[in-house]
Amino acid sequence: MDDFEQLKQEVNQCTQCVLSKTRTNVVFGEGSRHAEIMCIGEGPGYYEDQQGRPFVGKSGQLLDKILDVCGFNRKEHVFIGNIVKCRPPNNRDPLPEERETCIPFLYKQIELIDPKIIILLGATALKGLIDPNAKITKVRGEWMEWNGRLIMPTFHPSALLRNEKLKRPAWEDFKKVVSKYRELVNENHYSAHC
Ligand code: URA
Repeated sequence: MDDFEQLKQEVNQCTQCVLSKTRTNVVFGEGSRHAEIMCIGEGPGYYEDQQGRPFVGKSGQLLDKILDVCGFNRKEHVFIGNIVKCRPPNNRDPLPEERETCIPFLYKQIELIDPKIIILLGATALKGLIDPNAKITKVRGEWMEWNGRLIMPTFHPSALLRNEKLKRPAWEDFKKVVSKYRELVNENHYSAHC
């Protein structure tokens, strides 16, 4: 078993925090093990918990649409993960101790996948990975560096579903990711709309 499969097994068997008591399935994450882009969300919701897959509900469908317009998909270009791997009951925000317990798994995923670009989807991902005091409305759309990797913070797809007006700025953020992908990974990358 390679390191990645070993990590997956470890995460799938985790009982280190209370979320393990109420979960149906652990949501390890999904996508290419060698993805150059990682998208990081908050944590599984109802459908993700039921299926054991990330971003399969309404906001997941929107995320897939955005990725598709960028010419990206889960199979080839992107790995999608979350700050916490188990669903918080009633979709409450993950508690600080739950985030702290789970974050080493995300660090390990990042190390093993070794993406060039990390897209942080929403405030929990931004606060969980970068800085608990950072504000998504302030920093979104601006490249950041974290441990030698490029980070693009943007709105969570569920925020876009709640507020149509955020779609335009989020699209600008994803266009920056496509440009950077062309610069760093594949200058011939095809995307229908940018
Ligand atoms: N929202 C998230 O933040 N993550 C998921 O996996 C699904 C919805």
